[in-house]
Amino acid sequence: MKQGIFISFEGIDGSGKSTQMKMAAEYLSSLGYRVLTTREPGGTELAERIRKVLLDAKMEDKITAKAELLLYLASRHQHSAEIIEPFLRSGGVVLTDRFADSSTAYQGVGRGLGIELVEGLNELVIPRWPDLTILIDIPAEAAQARNISKAPDRLENEGIEFQEAIRKGYLELSKRHPDRIVVIESKDDIEETQIKVREAIARFLAV
Ligand SMILES: Nc1ncnc2c1ncn2[C@@H]1O[C@H](COP(=O)(O)OP(=O)(O)OP(=O)(O)O)[C@@H](O)[C@H]1O
Ligand SMILES: [Mg+2]
Repeated sequence: MKQGIFISFEGIDGSGKSTQMKMAAEYLSSLGYRVLTTREPGGTELAERIRKVLLDAKMEDKITAKAELLLYLASRHQHSAEIIEPFLRSGGVVLTDRFADSSTAYQGVGRGLGIELVEGLNELVIPRWPDLTILIDIPAEAAQARNISKAPDRLENEGIEFQEAIRKGYLELSKRHPDRIVVIESKDDIEETQIKVREAIARFLAV
């Protein structure tokens, strides 16, 4: 039997994942759930070291698409085994800022490795697919406008076309997995977007 509840938040950079997830955690706590919030790479030592390599702007052009994918998968397995699985086994609710669909959208679609290949490899490293995935959707241009003050990392340096390709990839995934992935438009203000996030979570909890 499935233990705990597993919810992931996905979307392009600057879409509002972290903002919405934090508010969703408050909502679930207020309903009496025991909630763990985490983000890839989840603070595990191995995963943090891998992340440093992956996001280093100096590594531009020095990581092949497949190497990038495999590094993310190694990081995800460590994060799953160390942080996510134990909390789910204890019956809690895990909210994660990015998970398997990030690889499918970024490496599968963005880097062109293919959706099937990446989903197959994801299967190998994750304890299970999320019960619910909140996809925060926004046009790449609008997301970038929110993030202008922040120094771009290696992937963010790829530019607006890359971000828009990732966005389309995510939307394609939502069509493939309509039972799991809920698309929430985030062009409205933060509170209005959160109302839609809470509605989606409440609908999921009711079934
Ligand atoms: N609905 C919204 N309307 C306007 N601004 C927003 C909205 N949601 C988030 N923001 C702002 O946009 C910025 C990016 O939001 P946030 O950090 O939540 O996105 P993210 O998807 O987690 O981004 P990243 O991928 O870079 O971690 C923040 O400054 C946040 O306050
Ligand atoms: Mg974030």
